[in-house]
Amino acid sequence: MTEIELIIDLHKNSERQGPGSVEETLKALGFLNLPTDRKLNVADIGCGSGGQTITLAQNINVHIKAIDLFAEFLDELNEKTQKSGLAENITTLKASMEDLPFNNQEFDIIWSEGAIYNIGFEDGIKQWKDYLKIGGYLAVSEITWITNSRPKELEEFWTQEYPEIDLASNKINLLENNGYTLVGYFYLIPDSWIENYYNPLKARFEAFLERNNNSALARKVVEEHKVEIDLYLKYKDYYSYGFYVARRND
Ligand SMILES: C[S@@+](CC[C@H](N)C(=O)[O-])C[C@H]1O[C@@H](n2cnc3c(N)ncnc32)[C@H](O)[C@@H]1O
Repeated sequence: MTEIELIIDLHKNSERQGPGSVEETLKALGFLNLPTDRKLNVADIGCGSGGQTITLAQNINVHIKAIDLFAEFLDELNEKTQKSGLAENITTLKASMEDLPFNNQEFDIIWSEGAIYNIGFEDGIKQWKDYLKIGGYLAVSEITWITNSRPKELEEFWTQEYPEIDLASNKINLLENNGYTLVGYFYLIPDSWIENYYNPLKARFEAFLERNNNSALARKVVEEHKVEIDLYLKYKDYYSYGFYVARRND
């Protein structure tokens, strides 16, 4: 298996592929002022196995196009969709977030939890805006500094991993400079990282190594995840995922 195939193998069969929670998906949803007289069109970009997709479909009158680059995650979401009786509300689509087959102003809502970093926050909010109706909402979670300064070790790690990591004020500025009005912001609580994401991930390491014959590449994948987890546990007072909810205004 290649490294990316191993990463998919490690993350499949899990509730979520990144930090978050049902409560925080609903909290973000609470900022939206939505029409109730029609079914809304939603894109969930980088949906993974669809934790948040199911929550959205269970709580608003929607049709969701759930997009991910990897069929393995979409297959899991399709199973969940069938089991929850939501087949009419959710359609999965294998595509890259950088090249989406959507029409101008197709969606009332664009949702993306923990995934916009794959295209980059600035490029993502610019490119995806075209697909949003005027007055439509963008809701994205994205790694964010939650204090104005931080230890050097932490700053160096994340700046190398994702140079767009920044303070919420700077991300909000980007939104405002690109035709959005902020309607809500909060950041994820530690349980959304530890209980909902890192602990279940750690619990899968052993079986993952076994089924991949303890290969050097599989061990490397586990080690890299451990570094990220340890860093979070050490420095969780300095960063989180910010949840940005904004309305297209032009
Ligand atoms: C951190 S996970 C978040 C998944 C899910 N939203 C959640 O919160 O559990 C990021 C997701 O983005 C997907 N992804 C990565 N690159 C992508 C791309 N270019 N286009 C679409 N999806 C992509 C990954 O497969 C993965 O499911």
